[in-house]
Amino acid sequence: MLGQELVRRMGRKPEYDVLATGRDAKPRFTGGSCGYTRLDITRETDVQRIFDDFEPDIVINAAAMTQVDACESDREQCWRVNADAVDILARCCRDHGARLIQVSTDFIFDGKDGPYKEDARPNPISYYGRSKLAGENNARTAGTNRWAIVRTVLVFGAPQADGRSNFVTWVHDKLKSGQRIQVVTDQWRTPTWVVDLADGIERIVRFRKSGVFHISGRDLLSVNVFAHRIAEVAGLEPTLIEEATKHTFSQPAERPEKTGFIILKAETELGFKPHDMTTAIRHTLGLEPPDDVLPHI
Ligand SMILES: NC(=O)c1ccc[n+]([C@@H]2O[C@H](COP(=O)([O-])OP(=O)(O)OC[C@H]3O[C@@H](n4cnc5c(N)ncnc54)[C@H](OP(=O)(O)O)[C@@H]3O)[C@@H](O)[C@H]2O)c1
Repeated sequence: MLGQELVRRMGRKPEYDVLATGRDAKPRFTGGSCGYTRLDITRETDVQRIFDDFEPDIVINAAAMTQVDACESDREQCWRVNADAVDILARCCRDHGARLIQVSTDFIFDGKDGPYKEDARPNPISYYGRSKLAGENNARTAGTNRWAIVRTVLVFGAPQADGRSNFVTWVHDKLKSGQRIQVVTDQWRTPTWVVDLADGIERIVRFRKSGVFHISGRDLLSVNVFAHRIAEVAGLEPTLIEEATKHTFSQPAERPEKTGFIILKAETELGFKPHDMTTAIRHTLGLEPPDDVLPHI
């Protein structure tokens, strides 16, 4: 989801020469001036070859194993992608003088005292969170100070070409077809529009910033209340949304209770200004014209 949005945003700006990579033989995007190469980031020699061929100035790693429950059951693959591959990328960046922007998650925190600032103490409670924290540490310790870590929270955006859903499109589709959904009241987040996240990352590129940045939306709310906001904006039936707690489901991975971010550092150092939630949901659901025409913020 984030990779596609970065390609869309940066691929059309003449100041960037973008090479996108992914595991598929062919790119999932069409148009734009963006190159594409197949790459599995866990394969060190392939990564090295791309660094040799393309000589990137900046590497943005949006690839990850993101299914939290699958990470619990396939720990080996999870660690390979979320931790070991970041070490490969970070060492290649060091050797080629490139900057690394590593994307990370609120799940590195235990959720006991959110919302979090950048210097809060991580304490992951899932294997996904542990692997992403290890990825952060690998980005920091590869021997270059040219790194940035961008942590984000519950990302949503318009449906993708491959049909994958995210929380907003899932809630919309279920309610639209009249299905009841159970949504937790005991997990709080600051949901993030992928367009805002890509904007924050581009600002880090443009201003050549290093260090840790928390990039998310502004509103801290329970996931259940977020579902109600989606229903309200889309004009769908809110009574289909039932209350659940973590005890309602038996999921392999534990989720942190209250995360969410304080985004003051991004606001002051990057001029980051996320759209309000209603605007973001309306664009995500196609209730507004395409976001190329969004006013510049
Ligand atoms: N989505 C959220 O709510 C959320 C919240 C906090 C943080 N984040 C972080 O934000 C970043 C972007 O997440 P996203 O939502 O855009 O996730 P996503 O849609 O699941 O994208 C992750 C991509 O990584 C690719 N990938 C996995 N293993 C790979 C490998 N070995 N080599 C190359 N590519 C590989 C996947 O490829 P395939 O398509 O081939 O599987 C997928 O396209 C991740 O670092 C994630 O941890 C996301």
